[in-house]
Amino acid sequence: MRGRFITFEGIDGAGKSSHIEALAGWLRQHGHRVLQTREPGGTPMAEVVRELVLHKPMDALTESLLVFAARRDHLESVIEPALAAGTTVLCDRFTDATFAYQGGGRGFDRAVLAQLEAWVQNGRQPDLTLWFDVSPEVAAARRAVAREPDRFEAEKAAFFDRVRAGYAARAAGAPERIVRIDASGSLEDVWARVLAVAQARHAGGGP
Ligand code: TYD
Repeated sequence: MRGRFITFEGIDGAGKSSHIEALAGWLRQHGHRVLQTREPGGTPMAEVVRELVLHKPMDALTESLLVFAARRDHLESVIEPALAAGTTVLCDRFTDATFAYQGGGRGFDRAVLAQLEAWVQNGRQPDLTLWFDVSPEVAAARRAVAREPDRFEAEKAAFFDRVRAGYAARAAGAPERIVRIDASGSLEDVWARVLAVAQARHAGGGP
């Protein structure tokens, strides 16, 4: 049986990383084979692209082409084979991030992004996306205790307002796939919300 493709989204500082770890553990306990991966990245070539996108100045079209090129390599050489082998794939960010960051944050043409999405994904979409939604103020406070900011993390609050609105627009367009998780509150509170969604979806499908 084909594995399930689950992606995790949210503005920088929303706190999704620890929940990806926790969900991977929970799924393994329930007998699933799990692959954890991320975008941009997940293959040697795509990890090189990640370094460029996170640290080198470039315009929004270049950024979009690079993240989609990395995504193509990742999908073809890692994600698809894993799903075909029955492995559950947990991916930290995917195409919704491109619509939110390049489309929303940078204001780049979403019609061009939709064209790239169609070429690269051929209609393939995640089975489930958990969108960790939190205000840019809370996210900024969480980022303040983290490491040196990259090109995105260094952006101002208004940028993250636009990214958040970008996620909201994507979620409105795919309500069955994208589940909004209120990411405010303690780690335990948010994990309880993640687990509730995982259990609800788990009940509906096999390993
Ligand atoms: P992030 O996933 O937050 O990793 P870390 O937890 O290591 O900081 O960083 C990836 C950054 O890349 C994030 O700021 C969003 C950005 N990004 C895009 O702009 N477009 C994309 O399509 C993707 C996948 C990510």
